[in-house]
Amino acid sequence: MFSVITTSPEQTWKIGEMLGARLKAGDTVCLYGDLGAGKTSFSYGIAQGLDVQEHYITSPTFTFVNEYEGRVPFYHIDLYRLVDPGELENIGFEEYLDSDGVTVIEWADRAEDKLPGEALSVYLSYVDDHSREIGFLAEGERYEKLLDELRVTLNKI
Ligand SMILES: Nc1ncnc2c1ncn2[C@@H]1O[C@H](COP(=O)(O)OP(=O)(O)OP(=O)(O)O)[C@@H](O)[C@H]1O
Ligand SMILES: [Mg+2]
Repeated sequence: MFSVITTSPEQTWKIGEMLGARLKAGDTVCLYGDLGAGKTSFSYGIAQGLDVQEHYITSPTFTFVNEYEGRVPFYHIDLYRLVDPGELENIGFEEYLDSDGVTVIEWADRAEDKLPGEALSVYLSYVDDHSREIGFLAEGERYEKLLDELRVTLNKI
C-alpha cells in the first residue's frame, strides 16, 4: 500500500489518468471513500487515460452503470444506492467484471462478497478543502505489477 496527497481536483484527475493509461481489458478498479472524497474526479481521470472522448463523466447514480467507448470499453459503476448486494445480479455485475472492458466501481464496499478476489483498490479521503489522500492497494499479481509501475511514474512528478 502506498499513498499520495493531491492538492487540487486537477491533480486527482492527473493521477487517475496515469492509472487509466496503464489499464487493460478485464481490469477492475475499486474506489472507496466518503461523499465528496473524489471518487468521481478520479474516475474522470481514468476515463481520460482510456481515451474516452466524452468530457462529461458523471456518477451513474440512478442506473448504477454508465458505459463509455475508449481505447477499451469503460464501465463506470456507482453502487451508492445499492441496498442489497443481491441486486447486483440484475445489473449484470459479474458480466462487467469478466468483460473485455475496464470496470471502475465507486462505493465498492457496497458489493460486499460480490467483489472480485483480485482488483486494484483506491482509497480516497478528505484532508482539507483542496487536498485529498489517495491510497493504493493491489490484490493479485497483475495489480501488484501495475501498482509498481504507477508508483515509479508518480515518483517522477
Ligand atoms: N484534491 C482534490 N481531489 C479531488 N477532488 C477535490 C480535491 N479538492 C477539492 N475537491 C472537490 O471535491 C469534490 C469531489 O467530488 P467527487 O464527485 O469527485 O467525489 P465522490 O467521492 O465521487 O463523491 P460521491 O460519493 O458523492 O459520488 C469536487 O467538488 C472537487 O472539486
Ligand atoms: Mg461519485
